[in-house]
Amino acid sequence: MKFSIKSGTPEKQRGACVAVGVFEPGKLTEAAEAMDKIAGGYIGGILRSGDMKGNAGSTLVLHNVPGTLCERVLLVGLGKEQEINDKAYRDAVRAAFKALHETGATDATLFLTDVPMKERGAAWKVSQAVIVAMESIYRFDRLKSKIEGAKPHLRKITLGTTSRAELAASEEALQQGLAIADGMNLAKNLGNLAPNICTPTYLAEQATGIAKTHKLKVTILGQKDMEKLGMGSLLAVARGSRQPAKLIALEYWGQAKKERPIVLVGKGVTFDTGGISLKPAAEMDEMKYDMCGAASVLGTITAIAQMRLPLNVIGIIPTTENMPGGNATKPGDVVTSMSGQTIEILNTDAEGRLILCDALTYAERYEPETVIDIATLTGACVIALGHVASGLLSNDEELAEELLRASGQAADPAWRLPLWDDYQEQLKSNFADIANIGGRAGGTITAACFLSRFTRKYRWAHLDIAGTAWKSGKEKGATGRPVPLLTQFLIGRTVKKGR
Ligand code: BES
Ligand code: MN
Ligand code: ZN
Repeated sequence: MKFSIKSGTPEKQRGACVAVGVFEPGKLTEAAEAMDKIAGGYIGGILRSGDMKGNAGSTLVLHNVPGTLCERVLLVGLGKEQEINDKAYRDAVRAAFKALHETGATDATLFLTDVPMKERGAAWKVSQAVIVAMESIYRFDRLKSKIEGAKPHLRKITLGTTSRAELAASEEALQQGLAIADGMNLAKNLGNLAPNICTPTYLAEQATGIAKTHKLKVTILGQKDMEKLGMGSLLAVARGSRQPAKLIALEYWGQAKKERPIVLVGKGVTFDTGGISLKPAAEMDEMKYDMCGAASVLGTITAIAQMRLPLNVIGIIPTTENMPGGNATKPGDVVTSMSGQTIEILNTDAEGRLILCDALTYAERYEPETVIDIATLTGACVIALGHVASGLLSNDEELAEELLRASGQAADPAWRLPLWDDYQEQLKSNFADIANIGGRAGGTITAACFLSRFTRKYRWAHLDIAGTAWKSGKEKGATGRPVPLLTQFLIGRTVKKGR
């Protein structure tokens, strides 16, 4: 799909379709009003007939509307005018694309960027429209021998705006939206890929490919390198697997090297069986998504490289399978992490924190300004926040606030949980410095507490994406989250230069 921005009036548009919004209970937006005027009240008449009430999520395709120059007019319901918010706007755009895909239209001009919203300008509406549109055509059919269903006809999208003043900002927002959508697609593709293909070696190859495309530096550490660095915790997880573990470092230097980088650390467990603490069989296939943190790091770096953001960003990905086997780590094993702290592994299924802790120590060598780790870390996070918000925990108030703001702006929800010292008690071990589990109570928090023992040297935040990185059931598939949140956070860093 190709996107462009155009300033002009809706009634003058030619082409296969022009989309305009209507509010409940049948109030025309400015763009719809203009269409109605040229159509001699035809659209107003349809609303009065009750065939379209402007309800959120509703759409109506009209053909050969009198006076217009386009083949179709698509009316898009926006819900009540006073209730329009981020979700209502995104839902309306989603409904518009669903309706457009059901027509034979190959191009469309959308006049939804003018929908009045208190807190959002044209730029926000443009980038969100691009992201939602790209989502509407996403498919993962790489592993099917025959492609089912027809390809979408829609090829050319014009985002119309009546305000010339916001044109430049809208153009920039279009590029940002495209970068985020491309980053999400990359993350989704890696997540959805079968775990016999998407192995640690495959992830390393993908990172190398990204480095080539965008001229970035990449380092891949193998087992020997990690042994030398003393990554006993990461290597303990890899013991049961036939696939060699890797540590990937992808470096984007968009600024002078003296500017301290932001480091993103992504959990890359390409399949999590639980190890000797084996998981139950039901839905175990979904543990191929246990590398979605890693995928979001690769997606975010792709997005910022595409935008050429003036920032320094390093992606670090510890990646391995978590398998049972004769050589696998056993409950009760004590290992020494790269930091020197010893860990009693009481449950081999709490493996994410074991690979992240060594990656977090490795991050110190970049003298980071901030470190953010992203991980499908705990089932407890799904219980706490469901599939709506990612869990956010941080040792820095300002950073937490900044991430929550980016999350709101990106429409990629996150919710903060406390990281109080009171929870650290649960990680006491009789035999090592720390245990790798803290019991059932507050599982997301104690997992973050474990990580916090390895992040004392820098500002740090942790995103638990166990509930948000993929969808289960009939619509099973990766979501590409939290690429929007992370990319928005980094875009924000380029605006606010003062720090
Ligand atoms: N990858 C899982 C977390 C997970 C589980 C994410 C289900 C999404 C859905 C993680 O490695 C894990 O197994 N965590 C354990 C930790 C426990 C043993 C302390 C969990 O959440 O049960
Ligand atoms: Mn696990
Ligand atoms: Zn896991």
